[in-house]
Amino acid sequence: MMIARCIDIKKSFPVKRGYLQEERGRVTAIDGVSLHIEKGSSFGLVGESGSGKTTIGKIILGALKPDSGSVELKTDKLQVIFQDPYNSLDPKMKIFDILAEGLIIKAQYAEARRKVEDITDLIMLPRSALDKYPHQFSGGERQRIAIGRALATEPEFIVCDEPVSSLDVTIQLQILKLLKDIRKKFNITYLFISHDLRVVRFMCDRVAVMKDGKIVEEGSSLDVYSHPAHPYTKLLLSSILDIYPKK
Ligand SMILES: Nc1ncnc2c1ncn2[C@@H]1O[C@H](COP(=O)(O)OP(=O)(O)OP(=O)(O)O)[C@@H](O)[C@H]1O
Ligand SMILES: [Mg+2]
Repeated sequence: MMIARCIDIKKSFPVKRGYLQEERGRVTAIDGVSLHIEKGSSFGLVGESGSGKTTIGKIILGALKPDSGSVELKTDKLQVIFQDPYNSLDPKMKIFDILAEGLIIKAQYAEARRKVEDITDLIMLPRSALDKYPHQFSGGERQRIAIGRALATEPEFIVCDEPVSSLDVTIQLQILKLLKDIRKKFNITYLFISHDLRVVRFMCDRVAVMKDGKIVEEGSSLDVYSHPAHPYTKLLLSSILDIYPKK
């Protein structure tokens, strides 16, 4: 069963220059993208910086309108988790309030407290975290809080846009495992955006590779990883090996 689909999406942005910010042309961000996300799956979108991944995510979330093409969504229970846990949490709010704000049913305090405590356990933070503020946490902990906030709304579909890119490698794996466990437990569908093919292989059943606003290859993540068909995918894979040589 399909949960989200795009058909032949195109999107360009104005290029503005100079004092008067005149439009000097347009940059094509998305150049005819179609994709189909099955309910309960984890769909990966990889590609280098500027290839259009975030733009597609925003279009699927309804935060941006495409110039042409269509988007079909079979749920209104959507959430998004961003790259930067520093900017995505309100610094003036206690963690309890950040998590309670998202609860679907505005319960009495005792009920809300119980639900928030359940979420706190799920994201593996101590209960004492609830009385603190975002600046009192590390990047990885803040990302857990952002994940908890998303879960409070009981989403069916989450767009994860580079959720671990700002964290160091050991913390990345903890957060990826948490996201994976949560998906299994609640049967949430993910659109998982990353520039890192290894992350996508770990997280996703299917992957689409983007380049210059187009999908150049799509398949099961195992296949794409082990038998890349497109030269660009091969290049992405070889650059991974360049940075992380086999010992
Ligand atoms: N609001 C905007 N105004 C103008 N240009 C934009 C805007 N948003 C995106 N673009 C351009 O559209 C293209 C795609 O951007 P997008 O953010 O989708 O890429 P991305 O694949 O998510 O990159 P990254 O890996 O760096 O996050 C880029 O050329 C970018 O500069
Ligand atoms: Mg992006």
